[in-house]
Amino acid sequence: MDPAPLMGGCHKERKGGVDKLAIEGGVKLKGEVTVSGAKNAALPIMAATLLTDDACVIKGVPFLRDTNTMVKILRSLGKNVEFENGVLTVTGSKKLNHVADYKLVSTMRASFCVLGPLLGKLKKAKVSLPGGCVIGNRPVDLHLKGIKLLGADVDIDSGYVVANADRLKGAHIYLGGVYGSSVLATDNVMMAAVLAQGKTVVESAACEPEVADLAEFLIKMGAKIRGHGTPIIEIEGVKRLHGASHTIISDRIEAGTLMIAALITRGDILIKNVNFKHLGALIDKLEEAGAVITKPDDSIRVRYSKPLRAVNVTTLPYPGLPTDMQAQLMALMSVTSGTSVITEKIYPDRFVHVAELNRMGANIQKEGPHAIIQGVDVLSGAPVMASDLRASACLVLAGLAARGKTTVSRIYHLERGYENVEEKLKKLGARVWREKE
Ligand code: EPZ
Repeated sequence: MDPAPLMGGCHKERKGGVDKLAIEGGVKLKGEVTVSGAKNAALPIMAATLLTDDACVIKGVPFLRDTNTMVKILRSLGKNVEFENGVLTVTGSKKLNHVADYKLVSTMRASFCVLGPLLGKLKKAKVSLPGGCVIGNRPVDLHLKGIKLLGADVDIDSGYVVANADRLKGAHIYLGGVYGSSVLATDNVMMAAVLAQGKTVVESAACEPEVADLAEFLIKMGAKIRGHGTPIIEIEGVKRLHGASHTIISDRIEAGTLMIAALITRGDILIKNVNFKHLGALIDKLEEAGAVITKPDDSIRVRYSKPLRAVNVTTLPYPGLPTDMQAQLMALMSVTSGTSVITEKIYPDRFVHVAELNRMGANIQKEGPHAIIQGVDVLSGAPVMASDLRASACLVLAGLAARGKTTVSRIYHLERGYENVEEKLKKLGARVWREKE
Protein backbone atom coordinates (compact mmCIF):
# COMPACT_ATOMS: atom_id res chain seq x y z
CA MET A 1 0.00 0.00 0.00
CA ASP A 2 2.91 2.29 0.73
CA PRO A 3 3.56 3.94 -2.64
CA ALA A 4 7.12 5.11 -2.30
CA PRO A 5 9.68 6.28 0.18
CA LEU A 6 8.13 8.75 2.58
CA MET A 7 8.53 12.24 1.28
CA GLY A 8 6.74 15.47 0.74
CA GLY A 9 6.28 18.46 2.97
CA CYS A 10 8.14 21.65 2.96
CA HIS A 11 11.81 21.20 3.31
CA LYS A 12 12.94 17.61 3.35
CA GLU A 13 14.80 16.04 0.50
CA ARG A 14 13.75 12.60 -0.57
CA LYS A 15 16.38 9.92 -0.24
CA GLY A 16 17.26 7.50 -3.00
CA GLY A 17 16.48 7.68 -6.74
CA VAL A 18 14.00 10.29 -7.80
CA ASP A 19 12.01 10.68 -10.95
CA LYS A 20 11.66 13.71 -13.07
CA LEU A 21 8.78 14.37 -15.39
CA ALA A 22 9.63 14.90 -19.03
CA ILE A 23 7.20 16.81 -21.23
CA GLU A 24 7.27 17.39 -24.95
CA GLY A 25 5.18 20.54 -25.21
CA GLY A 26 2.88 21.87 -27.86
CA VAL A 27 -0.05 19.43 -27.77
CA LYS A 28 -3.53 20.94 -27.39
CA LEU A 29 -5.08 18.97 -24.54
CA LYS A 30 -8.50 17.55 -25.36
CA GLY A 31 -10.97 15.14 -23.79
CA GLU A 32 -12.41 14.33 -20.39
CA VAL A 33 -10.78 14.03 -17.01
CA THR A 34 -12.12 13.37 -13.52
CA VAL A 35 -10.95 15.30 -10.49
CA SER A 36 -9.95 13.38 -7.34
CA GLY A 37 -10.97 14.03 -3.75
CA ALA A 38 -9.49 17.14 -2.13
CA LYS A 39 -6.15 16.57 -0.41
CA ASN A 40 -6.66 19.54 1.91
CA ALA A 41 -10.03 18.22 3.03
CA ALA A 42 -8.84 14.63 3.37
CA LEU A 43 -5.86 15.39 5.63
CA PRO A 44 -7.72 17.10 8.52
CA ILE A 45 -10.64 14.68 8.17
CA MET A 46 -8.19 11.80 8.56
CA ALA A 47 -6.82 13.53 11.67
CA ALA A 48 -10.38 13.94 13.01
CA THR A 49 -10.72 10.16 13.25
CA LEU A 50 -8.50 10.48 16.35
CA LEU A 51 -11.52 11.97 18.12
CA THR A 52 -13.34 8.64 18.37
CA ASP A 53 -12.58 5.02 19.26
CA ASP A 54 -15.21 3.87 16.77
CA ALA A 55 -14.60 2.96 13.15
CA CYS A 56 -14.65 5.69 10.51
CA VAL A 57 -14.90 5.17 6.78
CA ILE A 58 -13.72 7.96 4.51
CA LYS A 59 -14.32 7.68 0.79
CA GLY A 60 -12.77 9.55 -2.10
CA VAL A 61 -9.41 9.91 -0.38
CA PRO A 62 -6.77 10.66 -3.03
CA PHE A 63 -3.81 8.29 -3.11
CA LEU A 64 -0.98 10.78 -2.62
CA ARG A 65 2.25 11.12 -0.75
CA ASP A 66 0.58 13.45 1.74
CA THR A 67 -2.37 11.17 2.46
CA ASN A 68 0.05 8.26 2.86
CA THR A 69 2.09 10.33 5.29
CA MET A 70 -1.09 10.95 7.29
CA VAL A 71 -1.78 7.20 7.27
CA LYS A 72 1.67 6.68 8.81
CA ILE A 73 1.01 9.34 11.42
CA LEU A 74 -2.34 7.83 12.41
CA ARG A 75 -0.69 4.42 12.71
CA SER A 76 2.14 5.86 14.78
CA LEU A 77 -0.50 7.31 17.11
CA GLY A 78 -2.05 3.86 17.53
CA LYS A 79 -4.84 3.75 14.94
CA ASN A 80 -5.44 0.82 12.61
CA VAL A 81 -5.74 2.13 9.08
CA GLU A 82 -6.60 0.43 5.83
CA PHE A 83 -6.40 2.39 2.60
CA GLU A 84 -7.68 0.77 -0.56
CA ASN A 85 -9.25 2.16 -3.74
CA GLY A 86 -9.73 5.58 -2.24
CA VAL A 87 -11.49 4.20 0.84
CA LEU A 88 -9.84 4.71 4.17
CA THR A 89 -11.03 2.70 7.13
CA VAL A 90 -9.75 3.81 10.50
CA THR A 91 -10.44 1.78 13.58
CA GLY A 92 -9.57 2.50 17.17
CA SER A 93 -6.78 1.15 19.25
CA LYS A 94 -6.70 0.24 22.90
CA LYS A 95 -4.39 3.11 23.64
CA LEU A 96 -3.90 6.28 21.66
CA ASN A 97 -0.39 7.72 21.72
CA HIS A 98 -0.32 11.49 22.27
CA VAL A 99 3.13 12.12 20.70
CA ALA A 100 3.39 13.02 17.01
CA ASP A 101 6.97 12.46 16.09
CA TYR A 102 9.29 14.99 14.41
CA LYS A 103 10.29 12.53 11.68
CA LEU A 104 6.72 12.38 10.41
CA VAL A 105 5.47 15.89 11.15
CA SER A 106 8.52 17.53 9.55
CA THR A 107 7.76 15.85 6.22
CA MET A 108 4.31 17.40 5.95
CA ARG A 109 3.07 20.56 7.57
CA ALA A 110 -0.55 19.43 7.54
CA SER A 111 0.34 16.77 10.12
CA PHE A 112 0.23 19.58 12.65
CA CYS A 113 -3.55 19.23 12.51
CA VAL A 114 -3.36 16.18 14.77
CA LEU A 115 -2.78 18.68 17.61
CA GLY A 116 -6.45 19.66 17.97
CA PRO A 117 -7.95 16.14 17.94
CA LEU A 118 -5.28 14.68 20.26
CA LEU A 119 -5.85 17.47 22.73
CA GLY A 120 -9.63 17.17 22.40
CA LYS A 121 -9.63 13.40 22.94
CA LEU A 122 -6.76 12.88 25.39
CA LYS A 123 -6.47 16.38 26.90
CA LYS A 124 -2.78 16.15 26.12
CA ALA A 125 -0.71 16.31 22.97
CA LYS A 126 2.94 16.55 22.05
CA VAL A 127 3.33 17.46 18.42
CA SER A 128 6.51 18.43 16.66
CA LEU A 129 6.62 21.95 15.23
CA PRO A 130 6.43 21.62 11.46
CA GLY A 131 9.56 23.63 10.63
CA GLY A 132 10.46 25.92 7.74
CA CYS A 133 8.91 25.98 4.33
CA VAL A 134 9.94 27.00 0.85
CA ILE A 135 6.71 28.97 0.32
CA GLY A 136 7.65 31.28 3.18
CA ASN A 137 7.30 31.74 6.89
CA ARG A 138 4.45 29.61 8.22
CA PRO A 139 3.94 30.34 11.92
CA VAL A 140 1.56 28.42 14.20
CA ASP A 141 0.73 31.23 16.64
CA LEU A 142 -2.97 31.15 15.77
CA HIS A 143 -3.20 27.41 16.41
CA LEU A 144 -1.60 27.91 19.83
CA LYS A 145 -3.70 30.97 20.66
CA GLY A 146 -6.85 28.96 19.95
CA ILE A 147 -6.00 25.96 22.10
CA LYS A 148 -4.74 28.17 24.94
CA LEU A 149 -8.08 30.00 24.99
CA LEU A 150 -9.78 26.61 25.23
CA GLY A 151 -7.83 26.09 28.47
CA ALA A 152 -4.70 24.21 27.43
CA ASP A 153 -1.30 24.95 28.94
CA VAL A 154 1.12 25.16 26.05
CA ASP A 155 4.92 24.85 26.17
CA ILE A 156 7.48 24.68 23.42
CA ASP A 157 10.01 22.04 24.39
CA SER A 158 12.83 20.76 22.18
CA GLY A 159 10.96 21.62 19.00
CA TYR A 160 7.67 20.17 20.20
CA VAL A 161 4.41 21.84 21.15
CA VAL A 162 3.41 20.28 24.44
CA ALA A 163 -0.22 20.95 25.34
CA ASN A 164 -2.03 19.75 28.45
CA ALA A 165 -5.42 20.51 29.93
CA ASP A 166 -7.37 19.16 32.89
CA ARG A 167 -10.41 19.97 30.84
CA LEU A 168 -11.15 22.08 27.78
CA LYS A 169 -13.72 24.82 28.13
CA GLY A 170 -15.58 26.60 25.34
CA ALA A 171 -14.33 30.12 24.60
CA HIS A 172 -14.69 33.09 22.28
CA ILE A 173 -11.70 32.90 19.94
CA TYR A 174 -10.74 35.53 17.39
CA LEU A 175 -8.56 33.67 14.91
CA GLY A 176 -7.65 36.39 12.40
CA GLY A 177 -3.95 36.86 11.73
CA VAL A 178 -1.77 39.29 9.81
CA TYR A 179 -2.71 37.58 6.56
CA GLY A 180 -6.32 36.88 7.43
CA SER A 181 -7.86 33.61 8.54
CA SER A 182 -5.95 30.35 8.86
CA VAL A 183 -7.24 27.10 7.41
CA LEU A 184 -5.43 24.60 9.60
CA ALA A 185 -5.70 26.76 12.75
CA THR A 186 -9.48 26.83 12.26
CA ASP A 187 -9.39 23.04 11.77
CA ASN A 188 -7.30 22.50 14.90
CA VAL A 189 -9.44 24.73 17.09
CA MET A 190 -12.65 23.20 15.79
CA MET A 191 -11.35 19.68 16.47
CA ALA A 192 -10.29 20.58 20.02
CA ALA A 193 -13.53 22.45 20.75
CA VAL A 194 -15.96 19.69 19.72
CA LEU A 195 -15.19 17.79 22.93
CA ALA A 196 -14.78 20.88 25.16
CA GLN A 197 -17.33 21.80 27.83
CA GLY A 198 -19.73 24.48 26.66
CA LYS A 199 -19.83 26.76 23.68
CA THR A 200 -16.98 27.97 21.51
CA VAL A 201 -17.30 30.80 19.01
CA VAL A 202 -14.54 31.10 16.42
CA GLU A 203 -14.47 34.52 14.85
CA SER A 204 -12.53 35.21 11.64
CA ALA A 205 -12.66 31.49 10.94
CA ALA A 206 -11.40 30.24 7.58
CA CYS A 207 -14.30 29.79 5.13
CA GLU A 208 -12.52 27.41 2.74
CA PRO A 209 -14.69 24.52 1.48
CA GLU A 210 -12.16 22.09 2.99
CA VAL A 211 -12.82 23.53 6.48
CA ALA A 212 -16.56 23.21 5.88
CA ASP A 213 -16.07 19.60 4.77
CA LEU A 214 -14.21 18.83 8.00
CA ALA A 215 -17.11 20.38 9.94
CA GLU A 216 -19.56 18.17 8.00
CA PHE A 217 -17.56 15.10 8.97
CA LEU A 218 -17.43 16.18 12.62
CA ILE A 219 -21.21 16.72 12.58
CA LYS A 220 -21.64 13.17 11.24
CA MET A 221 -19.54 12.05 14.23
CA GLY A 222 -22.02 13.75 16.57
CA ALA A 223 -20.43 17.20 16.93
CA LYS A 224 -22.64 20.27 17.22
CA ILE A 225 -21.31 22.86 14.80
CA ARG A 226 -23.01 25.80 13.09
CA GLY A 227 -21.78 28.48 10.76
CA HIS A 228 -19.02 26.47 9.07
CA GLY A 229 -18.22 27.96 5.68
CA THR A 230 -18.69 31.44 7.20
CA PRO A 231 -16.29 33.56 9.29
CA ILE A 232 -18.15 32.76 12.52
CA ILE A 233 -18.31 29.14 13.61
CA GLU A 234 -20.20 28.09 16.73
CA ILE A 235 -19.42 24.82 18.42
CA GLU A 236 -21.37 23.33 21.31
CA GLY A 237 -19.13 20.77 23.00
CA VAL A 238 -20.38 17.19 23.37
CA LYS A 239 -19.19 14.38 25.68
CA ARG A 240 -18.16 11.92 22.99
CA LEU A 241 -18.05 11.46 19.25
CA HIS A 242 -18.91 8.27 17.40
CA GLY A 243 -17.72 6.72 14.15
CA ALA A 244 -18.96 8.07 10.82
CA SER A 245 -18.76 7.59 7.11
CA HIS A 246 -18.02 10.47 4.74
CA THR A 247 -17.07 11.23 1.15
CA ILE A 248 -14.41 13.89 0.57
CA ILE A 249 -15.32 16.89 -1.63
CA SER A 250 -13.64 17.18 -5.00
CA ASP A 251 -10.31 18.97 -5.24
CA ARG A 252 -10.89 22.53 -6.43
CA ILE A 253 -7.17 23.15 -6.86
CA GLU A 254 -6.72 20.08 -9.05
CA ALA A 255 -9.77 21.22 -11.05
CA GLY A 256 -8.32 24.72 -11.36
CA THR A 257 -4.96 23.35 -12.47
CA LEU A 258 -6.67 21.30 -15.20
CA MET A 259 -8.66 24.35 -16.29
CA ILE A 260 -5.39 26.17 -16.85
CA ALA A 261 -3.96 23.12 -18.65
CA ALA A 262 -6.80 23.48 -21.16
CA LEU A 263 -6.10 27.17 -21.71
CA ILE A 264 -2.31 27.13 -21.75
CA THR A 265 -2.30 24.40 -24.41
CA ARG A 266 -5.14 26.10 -26.36
CA GLY A 267 -7.19 22.99 -25.86
CA ASP A 268 -10.68 21.97 -24.80
CA ILE A 269 -11.23 19.85 -21.67
CA LEU A 270 -14.31 18.59 -19.86
CA ILE A 271 -13.42 18.32 -16.19
CA LYS A 272 -15.73 16.02 -14.22
CA ASN A 273 -16.51 15.78 -10.51
CA VAL A 274 -16.22 19.52 -10.00
CA ASN A 275 -18.10 21.70 -7.58
CA PHE A 276 -18.00 24.95 -9.53
CA LYS A 277 -19.37 26.88 -6.54
CA HIS A 278 -15.91 26.33 -5.02
CA LEU A 279 -14.22 27.85 -8.07
CA GLY A 280 -16.05 31.18 -8.40
CA ALA A 281 -13.03 33.48 -8.17
CA LEU A 282 -10.97 31.43 -10.61
CA ILE A 283 -13.78 31.07 -13.14
CA ASP A 284 -14.37 34.82 -12.98
CA LYS A 285 -10.67 35.55 -13.56
CA LEU A 286 -10.34 33.11 -16.45
CA GLU A 287 -13.48 34.48 -18.09
CA GLU A 288 -12.06 37.98 -17.72
CA ALA A 289 -8.99 36.67 -19.57
CA GLY A 290 -11.25 35.39 -22.36
CA ALA A 291 -11.68 31.69 -21.59
CA VAL A 292 -14.90 29.99 -22.67
CA ILE A 293 -16.27 28.16 -19.64
CA THR A 294 -19.50 26.20 -19.46
CA LYS A 295 -20.87 24.17 -16.58
CA PRO A 296 -22.73 21.04 -17.63
CA ASP A 297 -23.96 19.13 -14.53
CA ASP A 298 -21.16 18.64 -12.04
CA SER A 299 -18.53 19.32 -14.69
CA ILE A 300 -16.71 22.27 -16.17
CA ARG A 301 -15.76 22.56 -19.80
CA VAL A 302 -12.88 24.93 -20.48
CA ARG A 303 -12.13 25.87 -24.04
CA TYR A 304 -9.59 28.17 -25.63
CA SER A 305 -11.24 29.98 -28.51
CA LYS A 306 -9.18 33.13 -29.02
CA PRO A 307 -5.99 34.73 -27.67
CA LEU A 308 -6.34 35.49 -23.96
CA ARG A 309 -5.95 38.92 -22.35
CA ALA A 310 -3.50 39.62 -19.54
CA VAL A 311 -5.30 40.01 -16.21
CA ASN A 312 -4.21 41.11 -12.76
CA VAL A 313 -4.54 38.60 -9.98
CA THR A 314 -4.60 38.99 -6.19
CA THR A 315 -4.72 35.96 -3.94
CA LEU A 316 -6.99 36.10 -0.91
CA PRO A 317 -8.60 33.74 1.60
CA TYR A 318 -11.75 31.98 0.29
CA PRO A 319 -13.95 33.04 -1.45
CA GLY A 320 -11.08 35.05 -2.97
CA LEU A 321 -8.66 33.64 -5.46
CA PRO A 322 -6.67 30.83 -3.79
CA THR A 323 -2.94 31.18 -3.22
CA ASP A 324 -2.77 27.52 -4.27
CA MET A 325 -3.65 28.65 -7.84
CA GLN A 326 -1.20 31.56 -8.01
CA ALA A 327 1.73 29.69 -9.57
CA GLN A 328 -0.46 28.02 -12.21
CA LEU A 329 -2.01 31.38 -13.16
CA MET A 330 1.48 32.81 -13.48
CA ALA A 331 2.38 30.09 -16.00
CA LEU A 332 -0.70 31.05 -18.00
CA MET A 333 0.00 34.79 -17.85
CA SER A 334 3.61 34.20 -18.89
CA VAL A 335 2.34 33.19 -22.37
CA THR A 336 -0.53 35.68 -22.52
CA SER A 337 0.10 38.87 -24.48
CA GLY A 338 0.24 42.04 -22.36
CA THR A 339 1.30 42.84 -18.79
CA SER A 340 -0.20 41.29 -15.72
CA VAL A 341 0.51 41.82 -12.05
CA ILE A 342 0.09 38.97 -9.61
CA THR A 343 -0.11 39.98 -5.96
CA GLU A 344 0.33 37.30 -3.32
CA LYS A 345 -1.53 38.25 -0.15
CA ILE A 346 -1.30 34.97 1.73
CA TYR A 347 2.34 33.96 1.35
CA PRO A 348 4.27 37.04 0.11
CA ASP A 349 7.35 34.88 -0.61
CA ARG A 350 5.57 32.19 -2.57
CA PHE A 351 7.41 32.98 -5.80
CA VAL A 352 10.06 30.27 -6.11
CA HIS A 353 8.65 29.34 -9.52
CA VAL A 354 9.52 32.76 -11.00
CA ALA A 355 13.18 31.94 -11.62
CA GLU A 356 12.30 28.58 -13.19
CA LEU A 357 9.67 30.13 -15.50
CA ASN A 358 12.25 32.71 -16.54
CA ARG A 359 14.64 29.84 -17.39
CA MET A 360 11.99 28.78 -19.89
CA GLY A 361 11.95 32.22 -21.51
CA ALA A 362 9.24 33.92 -19.45
CA ASN A 363 9.63 37.59 -18.62
CA ILE A 364 8.70 37.95 -14.95
CA GLN A 365 10.00 40.37 -12.37
CA LYS A 366 9.37 39.99 -8.69
CA GLU A 367 8.81 43.16 -6.67
CA GLY A 368 8.03 42.36 -3.03
CA PRO A 369 4.71 40.48 -2.92
CA HIS A 370 4.06 41.24 -6.61
CA ALA A 371 5.16 39.56 -9.80
CA ILE A 372 5.05 41.62 -12.97
CA ILE A 373 4.65 39.45 -16.01
CA GLN A 374 5.19 40.54 -19.59
CA GLY A 375 3.61 37.83 -21.71
CA VAL A 376 5.88 36.21 -24.31
CA ASP A 377 4.82 34.45 -27.52
CA VAL A 378 6.20 31.09 -26.58
CA LEU A 379 8.18 29.40 -23.80
CA SER A 380 11.12 27.22 -24.58
CA GLY A 381 11.43 23.77 -22.96
CA ALA A 382 14.24 23.51 -20.39
CA PRO A 383 15.37 21.47 -17.39
CA VAL A 384 13.69 23.05 -14.37
CA MET A 385 13.36 22.15 -10.72
CA ALA A 386 10.21 21.83 -8.68
CA SER A 387 10.42 23.34 -5.21
CA ASP A 388 6.93 22.93 -3.83
CA LEU A 389 3.66 21.37 -4.82
CA ARG A 390 1.98 24.21 -6.70
CA ALA A 391 5.25 25.47 -8.19
CA SER A 392 5.65 21.97 -9.66
CA ALA A 393 2.19 22.18 -11.19
CA CYS A 394 3.10 25.57 -12.65
CA LEU A 395 6.24 24.15 -14.27
CA VAL A 396 4.36 21.17 -15.70
CA LEU A 397 1.81 23.58 -17.21
CA ALA A 398 4.60 25.70 -18.64
CA GLY A 399 6.19 22.54 -20.07
CA LEU A 400 2.91 21.53 -21.72
CA ALA A 401 2.82 24.90 -23.51
CA ALA A 402 6.53 25.18 -24.30
CA ARG A 403 8.31 24.46 -27.53
CA GLY A 404 10.51 21.37 -27.13
CA LYS A 405 11.30 19.24 -24.11
CA THR A 406 11.01 20.26 -20.48
CA THR A 407 12.12 18.13 -17.57
CA VAL A 408 10.77 18.92 -14.14
CA SER A 409 13.05 17.54 -11.43
CA ARG A 410 12.00 16.64 -7.89
CA ILE A 411 8.64 15.53 -9.14
CA TYR A 412 7.84 14.08 -5.73
CA HIS A 413 6.54 17.54 -4.88
CA LEU A 414 3.83 17.09 -7.51
CA GLU A 415 2.97 13.66 -6.15
CA ARG A 416 2.12 15.23 -2.80
CA GLY A 417 -1.03 16.74 -4.24
CA TYR A 418 -2.00 15.45 -7.68
CA GLU A 419 -3.33 11.91 -7.94
CA ASN A 420 -2.35 10.00 -11.10
CA VAL A 421 -1.30 13.24 -12.73
CA GLU A 422 0.78 11.59 -15.42
CA GLU A 423 -2.04 9.24 -16.48
CA LYS A 424 -4.60 12.04 -16.45
CA LEU A 425 -2.44 14.26 -18.66
CA LYS A 426 -1.66 11.39 -21.04
CA LYS A 427 -5.36 10.66 -21.39
CA LEU A 428 -5.81 14.26 -22.51
CA GLY A 429 -3.15 13.77 -25.18
CA ALA A 430 -0.10 15.20 -23.42
CA ARG A 431 3.32 13.75 -24.21
CA VAL A 432 4.64 13.15 -20.70
CA TRP A 433 6.84 10.45 -19.27
CA ARG A 434 9.06 9.77 -16.30
CA GLU A 435 12.85 9.79 -16.38
CA LYS A 436 15.34 8.94 -13.65
CA GLU A 437 17.28 11.86 -12.22
C1 EPZ B 1 -3.59 25.58 4.11
O1 EPZ B 1 -2.37 25.73 4.80
C2 EPZ B 1 -3.32 24.65 2.94
N1 EPZ B 1 -2.85 23.37 3.45
C3 EPZ B 1 -2.31 25.28 1.99
O2 EPZ B 1 -2.20 24.44 0.87
C4 EPZ B 1 -2.85 26.64 1.54
O3 EPZ B 1 -1.87 27.28 0.75
C5 EPZ B 1 -3.18 27.51 2.75
O4 EPZ B 1 -4.09 26.82 3.64
C6 EPZ B 1 -3.82 28.83 2.38
O5 EPZ B 1 -5.02 28.58 1.68
C7 EPZ B 1 -3.72 22.48 3.90
O6 EPZ B 1 -4.92 22.70 3.93
C8 EPZ B 1 -3.18 21.16 4.29
P1 EPZ B 1 -3.06 29.11 6.60
P2 EPZ B 1 -2.35 26.43 6.23
O7 EPZ B 1 -2.83 28.88 8.03
O8 EPZ B 1 -3.62 26.17 6.93
C9 EPZ B 1 -0.69 32.78 8.32
C10 EPZ B 1 -1.07 23.28 -0.84
O9 EPZ B 1 -0.32 23.62 -1.78
N2 EPZ B 1 -0.70 32.09 9.61
O10 EPZ B 1 -4.45 29.25 6.13
O11 EPZ B 1 -1.09 26.06 6.90
C11 EPZ B 1 0.13 32.06 7.26
O12 EPZ B 1 1.51 32.33 7.40
C12 EPZ B 1 -0.93 23.89 0.54
O13 EPZ B 1 -1.96 22.42 -0.95
C13 EPZ B 1 -0.30 32.79 10.71
O14 EPZ B 1 0.09 33.96 10.65
O15 EPZ B 1 -2.32 27.95 5.79
C14 EPZ B 1 -0.46 32.58 5.99
O16 EPZ B 1 0.06 33.86 5.73
C15 EPZ B 1 0.28 24.75 0.68
N3 EPZ B 1 -0.32 32.14 11.92
C16 EPZ B 1 -1.94 32.73 6.35
O17 EPZ B 1 -1.99 32.75 7.78
C17 EPZ B 1 -0.75 30.86 12.04
O18 EPZ B 1 -0.76 30.34 13.16
C18 EPZ B 1 -2.82 31.61 5.85
O19 EPZ B 1 -2.21 30.36 6.13
C19 EPZ B 1 -1.17 30.17 10.90
C20 EPZ B 1 -1.13 30.82 9.68
